[in-house]
Amino acid sequence: MALKNVAILISGGGSNMVALLDSMVGDHPARPCLVMANSEDAGGLAKAEARGVKTAWVDHKPYGEDRAAFEAELNTHLEAAGTDIICLAGFMRILTPAFMETWQGRMLNIHPSLLPKYKGLNTHARALAAGDSEAGCSVHEATAELDGGPILCQARVPIAPDDDASTLAAKVLRLEHIIYPETLRRFAGGDNARRDHPIDAT
Ligand code: GRF
Repeated sequence: MALKNVAILISGGGSNMVALLDSMVGDHPARPCLVMANSEDAGGLAKAEARGVKTAWVDHKPYGEDRAAFEAELNTHLEAAGTDIICLAGFMRILTPAFMETWQGRMLNIHPSLLPKYKGLNTHARALAAGDSEAGCSVHEATAELDGGPILCQARVPIAPDDDASTLAAKVLRLEHIIYPETLRRFAGGDNARRDHPIDAT
């Protein structure tokens, strides 16, 4: 089977992006074709370049409310790179239903909560405020519904009594770096069944 081309969309430091890039070697069914950000300042761009991966950035600001025009530019880059699969990895722009539908079935996202709990932002603070006993992260197929779409993998971690939003974020991020590459590997190989990660007790 031909290797799948994976484009990763980021807005920030891109630690999930790095985990994904570093996983796509050897017998992995995919290779990175592009890392793209919505700002020139996204720290992850330099990390991708250092790994020899093609990068691009499209600043969303000049487009204002014209999301379709911004996304048309994203699509130009995605198509030029021969993208088969998009991984959203901390891409902090809401994408329109039209964009999502174009890529549906070929686009993954990672979200730092046990979906369907805590869609959107500030997930760790919300889990703590709710008195939850566990937190976690989800890799799911991205659809027009924000942080919706079929869940492909979740990983859970107990919340300790002394956890705050930042210690919890670090525990969950460690799991994100495990399950996103794991799930991309399966998905790129044609397996889109849900397979959760074993409970992490560390
Ligand atoms: C992660 O917490 C991810 O779950 C969320 O955005 C954050 C991105 O972090 N969608 P990084 O840029 O991968 O370090």
